[in-house]
Amino acid sequence: MTKIAVFASGTGSNYDAIIEAEKNGTLDAEVALLVCDTPNAKVLEKANEYGTPTFAFDPKQYRNKEMFEAKLVEILQLEKVDLIVLAGYMRLIGETLLRPFEGKIINIHPSLLPAFPGLDAIGQAFDAGVKVSGVTIHYVDEGMDTGKIIAQAPVQIEDDMSREDLQKAVQQVEHTLYPATIQKLITRGE
Ligand code: GRF
Repeated sequence: MTKIAVFASGTGSNYDAIIEAEKNGTLDAEVALLVCDTPNAKVLEKANEYGTPTFAFDPKQYRNKEMFEAKLVEILQLEKVDLIVLAGYMRLIGETLLRPFEGKIINIHPSLLPAFPGLDAIGQAFDAGVKVSGVTIHYVDEGMDTGKIIAQAPVQIEDDMSREDLQKAVQQVEHTLYPATIQKLITRGE
């Protein structure tokens, strides 16, 4: 059975969707670990409710990124994690973590990349006035939202939509696309 580690820093609605898919059998994997870099994040409460083991850390307690990523690698290898799923983990992944998990780290981004990379992609799309935005799932490399694209889905931006409406619509698409894409990768043996 594929072992997944979800990395999240915030509310964890994507973590929820992945757990839900695991429970209802549409995702043939085990969420073996939840990694969180924000000690009081909401996602930690959810992980405790669901009984997912957690590793929460404060990056400020480490000398640098290399040090905390080395700790993460140690834990991920100990837990025999096969796939790292970033779901609102708001940091670039460094070489220390990338190298041992080459091709095994994926991310979800709330726009149709390469449009609107980086922070507040939903706000960027809204302010740009585009009529279609969406969701991208991609492999993670050292860049900011630059890795090879695995899956995308569009979201129409209607004239009467607010920024909040767009956020809701994007997240709704995320919650279906992420578990389904993870399952596809597992089926393909990637
Ligand atoms: C998602 O919109 C995702 O696209 C972005 O961060 C957000 C995380 O939301 N990378 P949540 O914590 O899963 O609710």
